[in-house]
Amino acid sequence: MATSDTLRYTRIPLTNGSGAIPAVGFGTLIPDPLATKQATKTALEVGFRHLDCAERHRNEEAVGDAIQEALKAGMIRREDIFVTTKLWNTNHRPERVKPAFDASRRRLQLDYLDCYLIHTPFAFRPGDEQDPRDELGQVIYDNGVTLVETWRALERLVDDGQCKAIGLSDVSLEKLREVVAAARITPAVVQVESHPYLPEWDLLDFCREHGIVLLAFAALGHGLNPRLVDDPVITSIAQRVHKTPAQVALAWAVQRGTAFLSTSTRRSYIQQNFEISALPEDAMREIREGITTNVRFNPVVGTGVPGLIPGPVEPRMARPPLDAPTVPRKLDGYQRGRK
Ligand SMILES: NC(=O)c1ccc[n+]([C@@H]2O[C@H](COP(=O)([O-])OP(=O)(O)OC[C@H]3O[C@@H](n4cnc5c(N)ncnc54)[C@H](OP(=O)(O)O)[C@@H]3O)[C@@H](O)[C@H]2O)c1
Repeated sequence: MATSDTLRYTRIPLTNGSGAIPAVGFGTLIPDPLATKQATKTALEVGFRHLDCAERHRNEEAVGDAIQEALKAGMIRREDIFVTTKLWNTNHRPERVKPAFDASRRRLQLDYLDCYLIHTPFAFRPGDEQDPRDELGQVIYDNGVTLVETWRALERLVDDGQCKAIGLSDVSLEKLREVVAAARITPAVVQVESHPYLPEWDLLDFCREHGIVLLAFAALGHGLNPRLVDDPVITSIAQRVHKTPAQVALAWAVQRGTAFLSTSTRRSYIQQNFEISALPEDAMREIREGITTNVRFNPVVGTGVPGLIPGPVEPRMARPPLDAPTVPRKLDGYQRGRK
């Protein structure tokens, strides 16, 4: 097990891709481009070396600017950082994959990407409108392409050499099995919502069996109710180990073998989310056995539909992320008893 000082530097070798993914990752789902650039710079300054992006966020350019400044300042070398971005639902047709990948690469100002994910397994009507709707306001899906056909196009990106690893996001175990069964290149990374209220043990077991890294988004539960950082099991461990509740939840993620993403625009949060330390084994056990709340905060896995339609960012909307919950922020109805 990693010692308390090295947990934050954990890198998980990619069995199905090249390189290794830093387990501690910074998510860039921040609606305002200036805030994105500043938060990304702060994340790099405090030590994050793994950045998670997406075409859907519409802010890849701001992330790219922050990376370029850090490179020019000599703070990082390209090979020190691991940058992931994602193919949006409207680009699932195989002929659209390479142009979408190249456009992301251009916006991020990078020659190659460390990882490229299919953002959700749902194909939307191809085109420039990220959120195509019919006159009744229903999403227009695209039945003319299968997930495996899109996967084949991602495999070709690896063959071309500008993408070191590929993977999926927002997939169920069932969908993942289908792709793994058909794949020439097994997914290297699977990004799904996961935290102590949604540990996804079955999915994690499957990933381990196939050498796939599970990358947990919403590792702090999107900051929504019921608040993970207020959970009594987490807060009592935090007091015992002299860390914050967020640091406990994030250390748990790394110690059980996953990578995680967290996001904030506040320097203090960004810094503490990097400065995690290993938990004692009894704390790991307490989180696994003592927490009975079971919550999925983000229903994107069932529909592929992002939460808020991107538009002008009002100051008070600075935090609800673009593809966070499609339901109102009152999410108590999602709380269920653990199976
Ligand atoms: N694949 C997908 O469909 C998908 C969907 C959603 C997200 N993602 C990715 O996952 C990343 C992370 O998701 P997320 O933003 O929901 O992560 P998160 O870290 O679970 O939630 C962010 C919320 O937690 C709060 N927070 C952050 N650090 C904290 C700390 N140390 N103590 C207390 N509260 C803290 C933030 O507060 P403040 O706002 O006050 O800082 C914010 O409200 C995204 O940026 C994106 O890259 C992927």
